[in-house]
Amino acid sequence: MIMKALVYHGPGKISWDEKPRPTVQEATDAIVRITTTTVCGSDLHILKGDVPEVAAGRILGHEAIGIVEEVGAGVQAFKKGDKVIVSCITSCAKCDFCRKAMYSHCRRGGWILGHSIDGTQADYARIPYADTSLHALPEGGDEEALVMLSDIIPTGFECGVLNGRVQPGDSVAIVGAGPVGLAALLTARLYSPSQLIVIDQDENRLTAAKSLGATRTINSADGQAAEKVSTLTGGMGADVVIEAVGLPATFELCQQLVAPGGRIANIGVHGKSATLHLETLWCRNVTLTTRLVDTATTPMLLKAVLSGLIDPKGLVSHRFPLADAMKAYDIFANAAREKALKLILTAH
Ligand SMILES: NC(=O)c1ccc[n+]([C@@H]2O[C@H](COP(=O)([O-])OP(=O)(O)OC[C@H]3O[C@@H](n4cnc5c(N)ncnc54)[C@H](O)[C@@H]3O)[C@@H](O)[C@H]2O)c1
Ligand SMILES: [Zn+2]
Ligand SMILES: [Zn+2]
Repeated sequence: MIMKALVYHGPGKISWDEKPRPTVQEATDAIVRITTTTVCGSDLHILKGDVPEVAAGRILGHEAIGIVEEVGAGVQAFKKGDKVIVSCITSCAKCDFCRKAMYSHCRRGGWILGHSIDGTQADYARIPYADTSLHALPEGGDEEALVMLSDIIPTGFECGVLNGRVQPGDSVAIVGAGPVGLAALLTARLYSPSQLIVIDQDENRLTAAKSLGATRTINSADGQAAEKVSTLTGGMGADVVIEAVGLPATFELCQQLVAPGGRIANIGVHGKSATLHLETLWCRNVTLTTRLVDTATTPMLLKAVLSGLIDPKGLVSHRFPLADAMKAYDIFANAAREKALKLILTAH
């Protein structure tokens, strides 16, 4: 059977193609009919050629909500008709990395959807290790809000807030006000930081950051961001600096923003090497962390979204039918011009 899907054909090339509908290949697989999906900054990195291991012909996408269409004989937790959140990270739950909740490095999974196997920007997707890679969607759950749990909310939280060890009263600077940086903002607020400074060059996204709880926003286009953060923090710098862009310039800016004893938590996917300025940092007692999201906190974050502690719906800027995925990519790739944040693609 044939379905439609967003297919990568090499750097700069995607199209909305006919592809065979996926089928159960392993007993632990589920086939999910996609009802809601979205586009990630990482998809744009793939499109730019920053993630060269992605093969031409690959269906992109690693975020979705859907309805289970079929399960393999070994799937116990889900059955046909169940509504599910697809995690961007696939976990076998049995390998050494999974046993320590580092699902990002699962020997048989990790970030494979829309990367090394076909992804979720399609009518149907095959989800390996379904029992431990899907989450049940609670009855009446808002798909637009909950699709953010596939990737960006756990990413902002785990790679930014947890790795940065945000504490009550901390000053936090987030470089990058894209969906991931804003997810770090929403989840950092759970820890009551004294300052939440968001830095970007896109005024529309800075306005969004303000409405989502940033105490200050800085447009770094004038090259003065480090001085401004220094002034805002009494000359000390920020206790936690979160990199949510993925460029050498922004990683280097983070190093200028960090207070002595502070933490730099990198989230951005980097396609090029960036300089680590040890000549200034060696004596500043800083910690630098990197992480691929594990999605180990998704069950907890699900409760926080359902209770209203986190409201990711404020990140939605555009809505399209799934069949308009090409238009959605065009708008997301020109986010500043289009005032775009998170795009919702639906097929009901
Ligand atoms: N580590 C992980 O597991 C993980 C998971 C998901 C996404 N990511 C990465 O997180 C990053 C952010 O994702 P996103 O979806 O929010 O991407 P995005 O492209 O929508 O957002 C990036 C933001 O950075 C801003 N920006 C660009 N250049 C800048 C500069 N020189 N100075 C200041 N701001 C600048 C842009 O205006 C934009 O708002 C990406 O690199 C993405 O690949 C990492
Ligand atoms: Zn992503
Ligand atoms: Zn595993």
